[in-house]
Amino acid sequence: MRSLYCGEVNESLLDQEVTLVGWANRRRDHGGVIFVDLRDREGLVQVVFDPDREATFATAERVRNEYVLQVKGRVRRRPQGTENPELATGQVEVLGHELTILNASETPPFQLDDDSVSEEHRLRYRYLDLRRPQMQQRLRLRSRVNRFLRNFLDDQGFLEIETPILTKATPEGARDYLVPSRTHQGSFFALPQSPQLFKQLLMMSGLDRYYQIVRCFRDEDLRADRQPEFTQLDIETSFLEEDALMGLMEGMMRGLFRDVLGVELPDPFPRMDYDEAMQRYGSDKPDLRIPLELVDVGDLMRGVEFKVFSGPACDPHGRVAALRLPGGCELTRKEIDDYTAFVGIYGAKGLAYIKVNDLAAGRDGLQSPILKFLPDEVVSAILERTGAQTGDLVFFGADKARIVNEALGALRVRLGHDRGLLQGEWAPLWVVDFPMFEWDEEAQRWVSLHHPFTSPREADLGLLDSDPAACKSRAYDMVLNGTELGGGSMRIYRSKVQTRVFELLGISDQEAQEKFGFLLTALQFGCPPHGGIAFGMDRLVMLMTGASSIREVMAFPKTQTAACLLTQAPSEVGEAQLRELGIRLRKPAAEAKAG
Ligand code: AMO
Ligand code: AMP
Repeated sequence: MRSLYCGEVNESLLDQEVTLVGWANRRRDHGGVIFVDLRDREGLVQVVFDPDREATFATAERVRNEYVLQVKGRVRRRPQGTENPELATGQVEVLGHELTILNASETPPFQLDDDSVSEEHRLRYRYLDLRRPQMQQRLRLRSRVNRFLRNFLDDQGFLEIETPILTKATPEGARDYLVPSRTHQGSFFALPQSPQLFKQLLMMSGLDRYYQIVRCFRDEDLRADRQPEFTQLDIETSFLEEDALMGLMEGMMRGLFRDVLGVELPDPFPRMDYDEAMQRYGSDKPDLRIPLELVDVGDLMRGVEFKVFSGPACDPHGRVAALRLPGGCELTRKEIDDYTAFVGIYGAKGLAYIKVNDLAAGRDGLQSPILKFLPDEVVSAILERTGAQTGDLVFFGADKARIVNEALGALRVRLGHDRGLLQGEWAPLWVVDFPMFEWDEEAQRWVSLHHPFTSPREADLGLLDSDPAACKSRAYDMVLNGTELGGGSMRIYRSKVQTRVFELLGISDQEAQEKFGFLLTALQFGCPPHGGIAFGMDRLVMLMTGASSIREVMAFPKTQTAACLLTQAPSEVGEAQLRELGIRLRKPAAEAKAG
């Protein structure tokens, strides 16, 4: 139906006949001549209809936005002064000889080039939203990324293997999506939170190198970088230790960024251990483009009369940290109040600060609501340790370490963006040496920092019994610009160790058998040392395209409340279907019937 794409028409085709198909992006009438911008996947070209060809012109008069057209015409140079340097086709136009309206369109609910359309509207009419060039570019880039990764892994001897979607729960820390079984009434499949257990089984089967670009399902609180169904590049290898695997993976990322974006990422990626990341950035996924750091000042605060500081300073689980903002004296009262409210989201009870108006002037040069509580030697020690200069502001957080880390860690990122402090464009990083376990105060038990199949460090095996908090795992996360892109680990491959870890996590023998019996059994039949990683593809493409959320790089994403506005899913089902599944809803029968 066409000889080439609209976006491909250029000067090399001058005076040639072309046949184009596409959508009418816009029609303009100009002194007896009609211009139609014809759009397809590859771009826009201007088509001109003049009244000499009466029938064609009459058809052109009926064209409205988003009509689907076929045009036959001759390529010619645009008259001088009417070229459009913004368009790839901007030097030329097509003089339309024949025009067929292949299909009409209702007036679209929004203009495709209107940037102020609400996301709700865009999601409801996603098929129109996806016609916008920006969305098409994102999906194309995503497709290119997939192609590169597949080729790379294929070259490295990885096999692409599919794993079940209707399966048993895989614990990755979220709630499961359940699917009722009709043939086993009262029983449910879980949609996989990841293919974790299957990929480990594939290693036990001797497949050696596996990958899959795979959908994962997690019923968790949604954010800009979280969706209930999302895509992982999932990878597992046998007989490779972490250094080799991490080297391979960062090589893949360097190749990807070079190929798709023409960007050179550092070789090697820097590595930082978890403790240092928390200490310096209050986060296990620090954005290293932001040159601000947390500094511990707890040791200085133990004896001060200000209980807000001395309390956490004396508490083994507490932390008192300072964050210096160069030039921060400029902050207004209102801005500081806003930041105080911001850290409140993370549980911080306040946000003390010292403004250094004049470093040379001693106390008189400082401005702060807490100065009166701090003796001279503490004040000067703080200034020295944080390296504060005239014009700087030093923020303070004091609380349980977790709260201080989350609050000041988030404040650091927010300040970096608000104050335009970002240095460099891409800052990849490996975070390593994670603790195996974290103590869950509420549940009063240990929980895995990664997942329960992550191996402890060989040297720390003894700590499983003596000091689980000190036990480090063989896990690693790849971080890019403050986003956790991927995470993985070397796995437990000896059933004794797996049993011990389940025990520590408070998973009883019986529960372990019910949930992962198949894995425990498989471990007894010659399981190779193995490990892997999974990358969040949506996040990766979001970062590569500079999009503000992963919804912008998914064709059909869900809303913050995990619904699809386009299809209106999830939706109620009829009584008959429920009966077939042996399910009765916990709501009044009358209401259920209405569904
Ligand atoms: P993890 O749970 O860290 O590891 O997930 C791997 C990566 O998947 C992405 N991700 C998400 N992306 C969008 N929406 C979500 N709700 C979401 N949740 C996770 C992140 C994350 O880094 N089986 C292990 C991997 C392994 O050990 O090999 C796993 O799933 O980018
Ligand atoms: P207050 O004595 O409660 O008025 O607090 C004095 C200053 O300390 C104010 O600037 C508060 O914002 C700040 N502040 C209070 N609690 C904390 C805390 N836990 N961490 C950091 N600053 C705090």
